[in-house]
Amino acid sequence: MRIKLAAGNWKMNGVKANLDEISALNDLVDATKCEVLICAPATLISRMVDLTSKSELKIGGQDCHSAENGAHTGDTSAAMLADAGAQYVILGHSERRADHGESDTLINEKTKTAIKAGLRAIVCVGETLDEREASNTLDIIGGQLAASIPDGIMALELVVAYEPVWAIGTGLTPTLGQIGEVHDFIRYRLERRFGEGIGRSIRIIYGGSMNPKNVQDIIGVSNVDGGLVGGASLKAADFSVIVDALS
Ligand code: PGA
Repeated sequence: MRIKLAAGNWKMNGVKANLDEISALNDLVDATKCEVLICAPATLISRMVDLTSKSELKIGGQDCHSAENGAHTGDTSAAMLADAGAQYVILGHSERRADHGESDTLINEKTKTAIKAGLRAIVCVGETLDEREASNTLDIIGGQLAASIPDGIMALELVVAYEPVWAIGTGLTPTLGQIGEVHDFIRYRLERRFGEGIGRSIRIIYGGSMNPKNVQDIIGVSNVDGGLVGGASLKAADFSVIVDALS
């Protein structure tokens, strides 16, 4: 019922010379059953969209402003991402929450703006190590979900990414039991808030040191509908293993 999503997050990596990785993914993607997405640096979106015009590979952004347009030097609007050919945007990534002090309220505004512009929003939630060790994980995730996701969402407009902050870029991952506990909890909260039909259809993907070695185990966990992959998405050879596992 829910099509798996393999989403790469290139973060602040990639220049023209790295576009070969996108060309290498094109053929592979057409043979898969999952949806495949690369969330690119803003400067590469148009080029990637051109390169993938004949394949099923989708391109997304990594952030957008909460306003539709205006005097916000250096920022990118949701409409600009859509105009460049992006179909998705990551919002509330923990690196944005930490580096730019993004609050749940701001992420909620960004999500509304992104959806209005025709983008699908990948809203990230996740606990820090301190929060996990203090047994606050579900409280934190519950609070982030309630405040970052706007009311009135339709199933296809939203993907929730569970990304434990301490697992991002560290090589550490939660146990499969811990991943399952959080994904089941997110599903429960989505169904309670948006009703069973919509709540059951929203995809919940896992992110944080997902790699070709651990993807098979993680994807077997209940309510894991795909992955948000940083480091291992930069090379087509690695990412293709993850795409295969999700197909
Ligand atoms: P990672 O990043 O796969 O490099 O841990 C994931 C993410 O931050 O989306």
